[in-house]
Amino acid sequence: MEENTVINQVVEQIKAQFKDDSSGHDWFHIDRVRRTAKKIATIEQADVYVTELGALLHDIADHKFVENPDEAALTSTAQILSALNVPQKTIEAVQHIVLNCSFKGGVEANKMKSLEGKIVQDADKLDAIGAIGIARTFAFGGKFGAILFDPNIGPMDHKDLASYQKNRSHTINHFHEKLLKLKDLMHTKTAQKMALKRHQFMEDYLIEFHHEWNAEIN
Ligand code: ADP
Ligand code: NI
Repeated sequence: MEENTVINQVVEQIKAQFKDDSSGHDWFHIDRVRRTAKKIATIEQADVYVTELGALLHDIADHKFVENPDEAALTSTAQILSALNVPQKTIEAVQHIVLNCSFKGGVEANKMKSLEGKIVQDADKLDAIGAIGIARTFAFGGKFGAILFDPNIGPMDHKDLASYQKNRSHTINHFHEKLLKLKDLMHTKTAQKMALKRHQFMEDYLIEFHHEWNAEIN
């Protein structure tokens, strides 16, 4: 099967699977990650086909949605791609990406080895910052019952969704807990450059947020 046809088939499956998500992992998140990853892959001279497949499948076994993410990453990827007669070598390269994207061990435990996988992770992180990142963060907060901000609640580090749901939090917390740290975690030079502008936009946004919160006049 031609690479283009494989991509189109995978797009249809992923679109159907993610169309109803409102936690920030909807089809358009996947599509943005895919388009950003393709651009980075071209500049970084990576394998664009493997990168695109990895981006399309990167959230199919997220630890937030499936019980056994490692197993789901390997089996779901193999199932989808072997049904489309994708060569074994390509399947393994994509499995490596999906497996390491679903991992919940945090940054220290990051075992992503391939350039294509690092690019997908970079594109995923880029989608969590900047204007889109801000929107996703408040959408996520709203879905899980957090308020916008409460100056009386101190900083919190949530290890997982359960701790997030148990401990009353506010969404501005997530900027400090995670989003403002992402620009320093990009693997590729291209993503580092893209992250700078998005990071600055969040810094400016937070200044403005607190400015308005404090009823400052100018
Ligand atoms: P990934 O895209 O790698 O799966 P996450 O699941 O951590 O990343 O985050 C998905 C989106 O949800 C991101 O935009 C992120 O900012 C947002 N999000 C995750 N955790 C929180 C939280 N505790 N509060 C607000 N937004 C969150
Ligand atoms: Ni993602």
